[in-house]
Amino acid sequence: MDAILIGFMGSGKTTIGRLLAETLVVPHTDLDQEIVENTGQTIKEIFSNYGEKRFRELEHKTLLKQLNKNGVLSTGGGTPISIRNLKILQATKTPVILLEASTSTILERVGKSEERPLANQMSVQQLTELQIKRIPFYQECASLSINTDDRSPLDITEQIYKYLLVH
Ligand code: S3P
Repeated sequence: MDAILIGFMGSGKTTIGRLLAETLVVPHTDLDQEIVENTGQTIKEIFSNYGEKRFRELEHKTLLKQLNKNGVLSTGGGTPISIRNLKILQATKTPVILLEASTSTILERVGKSEERPLANQMSVQQLTELQIKRIPFYQECASLSINTDDRSPLDITEQIYKYLLVH
């Protein structure tokens, strides 16, 4: 992999991942999208048909499979939260880029999406608590952290691109 993007739901992993891959002229893989393609089911369907545990298994296997490929990988918001995934992300030589956003930015972005089973069943307070709880996991494996509040995707992509040139 050339870069792995991590961060909470709505932090911009998919949008920035796509733009970064375009800039680097390499393939872009979205972990969730890969799971959808492999199973023929949406993330929402996997959660409601088999539960979160099964989803996390699929997520782990898919992460392992993607590691040795080239390109930019956008992970899911919960990917770094299991110890085994965290260890993988800490051990990889690929730069792991953390996209951060304030809770209000997250709520604004996530509120518009119907395809986020975890966020859809949570109150604003629960979602805020989840975000706070996850911060240490993200920080444990990130080689670069970027706050995305009030910044354009192109601007953020350029910052990552410049970082990758020297790392
Ligand atoms: C999840 C985030 C989602 C998706 C699933 C679980 C999470 O990905 O993997 O709904 O636990 O935060 P995005 O971060 O792309 O929304």
